Amino acid sequence: MDYFIITGTSRGIGQAIAEQLISSEHYLFCISRERNHSLTNKSKNITYLEFDLHDINQIEALMNRIFSEIDLSRANRVYLINNASMIAPVAFIDSAAVNEITGNIHVNLLAPILLTSTFMKHTKTFLGNKRILNISSSSAKHHHPGMSLYSASKAGLDVFTQCVGLEQSHTQTPVGIISIWPGMIDTNLQKEARTQDQAAFPSAQLFGKAKDAGMLTTPEETAQQIIAFLFIEHFEHGAIVDIYDYSKLQQHVDTPNKNT
Ligand SMILES: NC(=O)c1ccc[n+]([C@@H]2O[C@H](COP(=O)([O-])OP(=O)(O)OC[C@H]3O[C@@H](n4cnc5c(N)ncnc54)[C@H](OP(=O)(O)O)[C@@H]3O)[C@@H](O)[C@H]2O)c1
Repeated sequence: MDYFIITGTSRGIGQAIAEQLISSEHYLFCISRERNHSLTNKSKNITYLEFDLHDINQIEALMNRIFSEIDLSRANRVYLINNASMIAPVAFIDSAAVNEITGNIHVNLLAPILLTSTFMKHTKTFLGNKRILNISSSSAKHHHPGMSLYSASKAGLDVFTQCVGLEQSHTQTPVGIISIWPGMIDTNLQKEARTQDQAAFPSAQLFGKAKDAGMLTTPEETAQQIIAFLFIEHFEHGAIVDIYDYSKLQQHVDTPNKNT
């Protein structure tokens, strides 16, 4: 059996990833605040955990519970996909409330860090294939006024991925870890960006234009690309991958070094 721990599966990209991973050979642990009934109705191989990633002090217990249900001695592959994220607050930083600021950093950065750390502790002696995908964003590099927290959290996630990738290159049974920039996808998160008040978020119009120009891809198409990366034969530790850059994808396929 292959095991997948996926955050943010109630809608959008996370839901599409989970749907496409459903198989009799796969067991999914799906995490979000709202239970996704359409997903659980599709397979018996799903444990759905209604969990708020703001609750950072409960993340270790959550992972202990998940790993208590995984028999690693019979597992082939174990994966963690840190996908859940929030764009709010979309506001200049001098207008953001303290709890909004801490909430964003907790969900977007601290939660994936804690999930990564506990995943690695639990799989330390596991000799099979083990990988972590962090769903990041090109917002780590391309900045908009009003999105400082989202951009900072994604940039932090990328640097975390790079550093942990370096660490894993020094271990006997490394966990593969990469960050992915998925592009622009037609989800709630995009809608939230383009429907903001112009005064609070001057780039709202730009996001609206991207939608009108048909530049958004579907969650299903993006999930397909992300899953292709999850199963790619040669997985470079600590890479930050823009999945729209196919020449880079080809380079990863052709460069069999530093791999799991
Ligand atoms: N859409 C894009 O254009 C785009 C571009 C670049 C990167 N990304 C990245 O892609 C990933 C998925 O985004 P999306 O567009 O699919 O967003 P989305 O449609 O808004 O879905 C976000 C998911 O995260 C979950 N989530 C949010 N806060 C949570 C919390 N406190 N606890 C647990 N789960 C929480 C939500 O579930 P609940 O609300 O039920 O908790 C939902 O399932 C994110 O990492 C995002 O940054 C998206």
